[in-house]
Amino acid sequence: MVGAGWSCGAALEVVGARGGGRRAKMGEQREAGGGCGGGQRSELPKEVSLIKASPENIRMTIDSSSVSGKTVCVTGAGGFIASWLVKLLLQKGYTVIGTVRNPDDAKNSHLKELEGAKERLVLCKADLLDYESLLKAIWGCDGVFHTASPVTDDPEQMVEPAINGTKYIINAAAAAGVRRVVFTSTVGAIYMDPNRSPDVIVDESYWSDLEFCKNTKNWYCYAKTVAEKAAWEMARERGVNLVVVNPVLVLGPLLQPTVNASIVHIQKYLTGSTKTYANSIQAYVHVKDVALAHLLVYETPSASGRYLCAESVLHRGDVVEILAKFFPEYPIPTKCKDEVKPRVKPYKFSNKKVKNLGLELTPVNQCLYETVKSLQEKGHLPLPSN
Ligand SMILES: NC(=O)c1ccc[n+]([C@@H]2O[C@H](COP(=O)([O-])OP(=O)(O)OC[C@H]3O[C@@H](n4cnc5c(N)ncnc54)[C@H](OP(=O)(O)O)[C@@H]3O)[C@@H](O)[C@H]2O)c1
Repeated sequence: MVGAGWSCGAALEVVGARGGGRRAKMGEQREAGGGCGGGQRSELPKEVSLIKASPENIRMTIDSSSVSGKTVCVTGAGGFIASWLVKLLLQKGYTVIGTVRNPDDAKNSHLKELEGAKERLVLCKADLLDYESLLKAIWGCDGVFHTASPVTDDPEQMVEPAINGTKYIINAAAAAGVRRVVFTSTVGAIYMDPNRSPDVIVDESYWSDLEFCKNTKNWYCYAKTVAEKAAWEMARERGVNLVVVNPVLVLGPLLQPTVNASIVHIQKYLTGSTKTYANSIQAYVHVKDVALAHLLVYETPSASGRYLCAESVLHRGDVVEILAKFFPEYPIPTKCKDEVKPRVKPYKFSNKKVKNLGLELTPVNQCLYETVKSLQEKGHLPLPSN
């Protein structure tokens, strides 16, 4: 038996492989890393042995029948949302193939500590711009959670991996015949439209305006919108069962050792680096709820379309007020950057669809509290000195 929860350039023997049908035999592990086994779908006939040249090669047998419906791939497994998703999937008994860009990077080591990781987590080296690496990770999985994406407004870093990576995933999922793909999109693919009336209730039927995203240099929203549109189009063309989760800004405790972009959004109000707050609004949701939404849309056969995942919309003034109540010891800004203009009003949204799956959303005050406590615990914020 091969210990999982780690990675390497691996050997893999596939028995009875077909799209959606490669499973590790009970009591055995699939090995991954420099390659997760696999190859082009067309190159994977019924019985095939795939050996990757590496001194650490480990041979193992994969059988399509033994753990039916239990092997899933999570892309970008070491990220903020994906780490919680991997944790949840392992708790539920799934075998998880987690893709990471560098399995040996210490920033992914928290994954190996998750309950069940030793037995049922395989880290697999893959990059969004490398189709073959993605196919290798996905091959034989019952489902794919595509969460990996750059999170930045730098167009050089953002646009190509977000869009092409998503296309590759849909293509690879089609080639591998997976049961369902869950794509982590964003509210940024929904609400960026200056012509939308402030009175409408934003729901899953809305799409961001690409020209507006481009003109405002909102490359994150631009790329995620194009990526989601491409995912829907390709899924239709290639017969892939796709469900999309569109979270708003995600907060909550970190599992990973690094601070991701949505957490910086709160961290900056506690470090003294931001002296004023913006006259703007933002919607928030708890990371555990987002992970659970992914699992629910995956496991609910009737789930379809998009799922907006949002708890509350707050003005930044409300955010700093809540933070100051919980954590008065930090230099939290008290002044708005733009006190001349009227305070921007929150938009209305519907979270009916995601709640109908049975999801109970954590109140935003708790999201904020847990975010700060986690930043303290992980050493990203000084502890109060009293
Ligand atoms: N956090 C939010 O507020 C929020 C809200 C709505 C939607 N989302 C979406 O949720 C997903 C996860 O976001 P997150 O907040 O968890 O971000 P995160 O912590 O930054 O995680 C992003 C992950 O994507 C991986 N990645 C980036 N570029 C890659 C590439 N070229 N090839 C392979 N992997 C790559 C990163 O791997 P490395 O560690 O190797 O860089 C990382 O594991 C993203 O799709 C994001 O758009 C996030």
